Amino acid sequence: MGLYKTLVRPVIFRTTSDYAHETTLKVSAYLSQKKWVVNFSDKIFRSSDPALKQKIWGLSFRNPVGLAAGFDKNGTSVKLMEAIGFGFVEIGSVTAKASPGNPKPRSFRLPQDLSIINRMGLNNDGAKTVIKRLKKQKFKIPVGINIAKTHDPSIGGKGALRDYKYSFDLAKNLADYITINISCPNTEEGKTFEDAGELDKLLEYLKIGSDSSDPPVLIKLSADVSVNQLHELLDVCESYAVSGYVAVNTSAERVGLNTSGKKIESIGKGGLSGRAIREKSTDMIREVFEYTKGDKRIIGAGGIFTEEDAIEKFKAGADLLQIYTGLVYEGPGLVKKINAGISNYLEEEGLDHIYQIRKGRKTEK
Ligand SMILES: Cc1cc2nc3c(=O)[nH]c(=O)nc-3n(C[C@H](O)[C@H](O)[C@H](O)COP(=O)(O)O)c2cc1C
Repeated sequence: MGLYKTLVRPVIFRTTSDYAHETTLKVSAYLSQKKWVVNFSDKIFRSSDPALKQKIWGLSFRNPVGLAAGFDKNGTSVKLMEAIGFGFVEIGSVTAKASPGNPKPRSFRLPQDLSIINRMGLNNDGAKTVIKRLKKQKFKIPVGINIAKTHDPSIGGKGALRDYKYSFDLAKNLADYITINISCPNTEEGKTFEDAGELDKLLEYLKIGSDSSDPPVLIKLSADVSVNQLHELLDVCESYAVSGYVAVNTSAERVGLNTSGKKIESIGKGGLSGRAIREKSTDMIREVFEYTKGDKRIIGAGGIFTEEDAIEKFKAGADLLQIYTGLVYEGPGLVKKINAGISNYLEEEGLDHIYQIRKGRKTEK
């Protein structure tokens, strides 16, 4: 067992999930500014296996393991994330207006399920501040910006479209890719843009696919849509030539958990992430891959803790991966561990490159 699990995690897990989250963010942001920490971490954690490198959307990914949205909502810790070996980072969700998010407690660990329930409620410093912060820095890895609608139920209709557009226009001048989060389960008004008709209006308003100078645009899908709903959403997205999908966001469902029903009830609303949604996420990736006939790039997220989980996602059709909950339970060494595990798998299987794990998909190296 590593240092994180024996020494750090027991201390962190004695505090509330909210406190641990805030403290980790503060420490990460502080360490991100310390050059020697960044250089030192880079030496320990970096893995540079050419078999893991990919060129996707014209961007160079040194490895397929990315940081999922929600951890570094405000873009304060990208340098440290780069140094602990991530192949890319997705910051956000950012929204047009800054927001404190929902009242605490708003995140809860379920250790028996290696999962988390959160209802952060899109707390962030606002698109303008975050993007200004990112502009001042230079990164070696692709940095995506995830945008969502401001958490304010009074912003609806045309206002909601304008709200997204404000963040989109700011992000497009800087982001290596933009993810449109239409699937946050933690806002009072619910998931409006998961209605295919509403999504159509949004993508039309943002003029997705019409300006070749825009960065690649991805749509972040909910874990909870039915297969029919998913097909409707994909039809809309494909008609605007989006560049890919992030599958999946957290789930509002509470199926098959080991945690007691009493505890789950006492926690209340929120999005479930981690091991409990692993299969759901893999199924969704497979469905997206099959429905889009393997034409679109997919970032797979949901319950990735090991190289086996990673390989399962690749086999289902993912090109890249993102982790959040795994990082909380396993610590920063997880990124290097998963990458090393994928490299070993390739060697054992006699494969030269990760694209060979996927079903016949070719990738530029
Ligand atoms: C505390 C927390 C906050 C999150 N915030 C966001 C967010 O702001 N935007 C977003 O698109 N996804 C957010 N997510 C979802 C993750 O990006 C990811 O899709 C999901 O957690 C599944 O991955 P995991 O099982 O590795 O955690 C959040 C997840 C957690 C646990």
